[in-house]
Amino acid sequence: MRAVRCEGAGGPEVLGIGEVADPSPGPGEVLVRVRAAGVNRADLLQRQGHYPPPPGAPETLGLECSGTVAAVGAGVHGWQPGQDCVALLAGGGYAELVGVPAGQLITPPPGVDLVTAGGLVEVAATVVSNLDHAGVGAGATVLVHGGAGGIGSFAVQYARALGCRVLTTAGSADKLAYCLDLGADEAFDYHADWPAAVRAAAPGGVDAVLDVMGASYLTDNVSVLAADGHLLVIGMQGGRRGELDLGALLARRASVSALALRSRPVEQKSAICARVGEVVWPMLADGRVRPAHETRFPLEQAAEAHALLESGRSHGKIVLVV
Ligand SMILES: NC(=O)c1ccc[n+]([C@@H]2O[C@H](COP(=O)([O-])OP(=O)(O)OC[C@H]3O[C@@H](n4cnc5c(N)ncnc54)[C@H](OP(=O)(O)O)[C@@H]3O)[C@@H](O)[C@H]2O)c1
Repeated sequence: MRAVRCEGAGGPEVLGIGEVADPSPGPGEVLVRVRAAGVNRADLLQRQGHYPPPPGAPETLGLECSGTVAAVGAGVHGWQPGQDCVALLAGGGYAELVGVPAGQLITPPPGVDLVTAGGLVEVAATVVSNLDHAGVGAGATVLVHGGAGGIGSFAVQYARALGCRVLTTAGSADKLAYCLDLGADEAFDYHADWPAAVRAAAPGGVDAVLDVMGASYLTDNVSVLAADGHLLVIGMQGGRRGELDLGALLARRASVSALALRSRPVEQKSAICARVGEVVWPMLADGRVRPAHETRFPLEQAAEAHALLESGRSHGKIVLVV
């Protein structure tokens, strides 16, 4: 089969298309003929050599895809060749075929084009699992950093659909406007004093912060938490080591979590996928959540897709079409 191959670690130019052996589905696995694969920031880190695949995962990039079931392994029930599906992957999506544990497959969301569906599940699974972890529900106030990004644009809409009040940050006037269009109640420029703006908007603090920055925002994020609030760190774009004021946490009875989706065991990922199908697909079907603005590249142009995501000029989601 054809797959995107990394010739060593480095810039987008290390990506090229090549022939690799077809995967075959092991027990409990499904072989998917890929229609589209979502491009995620973690893929850039893996290409640069900073984010190796977990043990047993394919070396090929790609954490999510949509496609059609090509074959099923022993012990798989409920999936048959020819059925459309979306899949949460530990790797291998930038290819014509990929094997995936059956629990990590979901029927595509009704009414959503199969290519678009290829870029939905990784983001949805990340956001749903984090907000579930924090027990976020109707009436909560949530701060989403980077509301115009892949994670952020989904998180803003999802939290809004849950009935939360949503505050967000973004880095330019057009991205701030985009966040408001997605349903954010307030959007703050992260180049300005966003902690002061958040405190003014939510004097009692926010119940949860979904954070893609890590170390550089640790102190400010804790400072805007309400009593019993949760800081949910999912990205480290601002560094991995910071100083945590435990006194500030104690005073708020607050908690800090750092959850990675990719390294979770199959049973947990399967439960998260089932939850995405249960809560997110109906939101897509009735329009409470819209798929992000999308840019498509053919699989052969994975390097161009990575360059665009790395440039910071893209809005929403990038997908590779096979
Ligand atoms: N833990 C997990 O399981 C998991 C899963 C998926 C993704 N992630 C991580 O989540 C992060 C976002 O992924 P993505 O796919 O959404 O990437 P993306 O589409 O490239 O978005 C990156 C976001 O970071 C924002 N940002 C940059 N500098 C910022 C700052 N100083 N303050 C606030 N926001 C800032 C950007 O805002 P502007 O565009 O407005 O500049 C943009 O919204 C990445 O670090 C990724 O590795 C983690």
